[in-house]
Amino acid sequence: MKVAGQPTRTIWLEPDGATVGIIDQTKLPHELVKVQLHNLDEAAHAIRAMLVRGAPLIGAAAGYGVALAMRADASDAGLAKACEILLATRPTAVNLRWAIEDMQRVLTPLPPAQRLAAAYARAAAICDEDVAINHAIATAGLPLIEAAWAKKKQQGVVEVLTHCNAGWLAAVDWGMSLAPIYMAHDKGIPVHVWVDETRPRNQGASLSAWELGQHGVPHTIIVDNAGGHLMQHGRVDLCIVGTDRTTASGDVANKIGTYLKALAAHDNNVPFYVALPSPTIDWSLTDGVAQIPIEERDPSEVTHITGLTDAGTLATVRLTPEGSAAANYGFDVTPARLVTGLITERGVCAASREGLLSLFPERK
Ligand code: MRU
Repeated sequence: MKVAGQPTRTIWLEPDGATVGIIDQTKLPHELVKVQLHNLDEAAHAIRAMLVRGAPLIGAAAGYGVALAMRADASDAGLAKACEILLATRPTAVNLRWAIEDMQRVLTPLPPAQRLAAAYARAAAICDEDVAINHAIATAGLPLIEAAWAKKKQQGVVEVLTHCNAGWLAAVDWGMSLAPIYMAHDKGIPVHVWVDETRPRNQGASLSAWELGQHGVPHTIIVDNAGGHLMQHGRVDLCIVGTDRTTASGDVANKIGTYLKALAAHDNNVPFYVALPSPTIDWSLTDGVAQIPIEERDPSEVTHITGLTDAGTLATVRLTPEGSAAANYGFDVTPARLVTGLITERGVCAASREGLLSLFPERK
């Protein structure tokens, strides 16, 4: 997608053919800072500290993390250690494990001398495949927005509510939940997005709002608790969110607060769609609430907030009383029964085992 009119990806190989470039998402929306990753430790830090985040981008960064590790040690032990370190960075997004296993599948049979080039090639391919998948998600989801527009007899604007950031900043390009919105906007359908701020890290207010604005899509940031009110008053035509891990039965883990939006949508007959690339499906799981590990992050993300001062500098301030405990659950699970449909690169299906297998019959 575009930044200041220029097509931009979230991760790339620098001209030296070795260094990996990323956008430091902890600095957005106030500063567009590009960072270079030179080794495994820097790649692992970028994922852990959320310079890169979002399930598909975490997977892509892990792919390049393995490639960077091969520069230092391409032995069997070096490969195993790199995968172990990267796998421990974040627990919920299954794309991380998917990408690491994919790199191992390609690299393990090769002699160490051939692993470096193969690792860079496979990491680049993971990125390109992600872009193609997300473009297909845009194409698959577009008819849902077109249908909402037709239902409104092409009057007014299609109102979409989204939570967190599953746009192009969460992927390599295009994104998931925002991909059909970009495509609809580019085709001239008037779309407006209600953007949940998404406490505590504010991926909606900071990242979704920024990328929608860069691409010229009308949007309004709302506090996380406003969605139900808007739905009660007919101000939301459909919800589209992303997911960090989807079970084989269609339960979806996504940023904390997604479940409450799905409950409100259900109560108000608002369609609730989840957009996902197939590497986000964990075919080994059947019960999301019981089986998906939920990341717990540092309570300081709840007790403190960072923003731009009037003087134009970034500052972090405390929000809560000294001494009050805070808990920081990163994700929650929305049961399949609350999901109207899953938007995948192969089309839209019911959030169920049967629905997923109808699109991915090779998993039967
Ligand atoms: O903690 P994050 O920012 O890595 O969380 C990921 C998300 O942004 C969301 O949960 C998103 O909706 C799904 S990522 C495809």
